[in-house]
Amino acid sequence: MAKKPGKSASRTPARLETPTDLSHNAIPELAEVLNRLVADNYALYTKTKNFHWHVSGPHFRDYHLLFDEQAAEIFASIDDLAERVRKLGARTVHSIGEIARLKTIKDNDKEFVSPAEMLKELMDDNKTVIRAMRAAHEVADKHEDVATASILENFIDQAEKRNWFLFEASRTTSGGGH
Ligand SMILES: [Fe+2]
Repeated sequence: MAKKPGKSASRTPARLETPTDLSHNAIPELAEVLNRLVADNYALYTKTKNFHWHVSGPHFRDYHLLFDEQAAEIFASIDDLAERVRKLGARTVHSIGEIARLKTIKDNDKEFVSPAEMLKELMDDNKTVIRAMRAAHEVADKHEDVATASILENFIDQAEKRNWFLFEASRTTSGGGH
């Protein structure tokens, strides 16, 4: 089977090239945006767990549990996104090193992060992922890949819910926003 050269992130050894009726053109483009989402979701999962472990203060229990719920949801999305890439016949992420190269979400290695800063940073990062998913959806639409579009719609909805909960949790009792 002739294989059109693609971007290195999505080039697939012939033995792993699952047959698909989508055009060869579509596969590297879809794999690239989906693999970046896999990497960003790993990074966001890790940061959400970091904040779950290190949150402090009077709202400890609420935030500790909220971050854990959100981390579990993000983690679950990773497998679906990676398997979508394999269903398309491309290769997905292999390692922590590859995640580090592909991700756009920044690490937060600070000794101490206040709860308000955690909520704000997670809101910003979830918005980054939402924007990336909308862009990936456009690529899926362009190639008439309705299955990728469909799973992305579900994950956009989940991320918007996370953003909503983080926003409401960030309001002060005086009624202000963040
Ligand atoms: Fe835990």
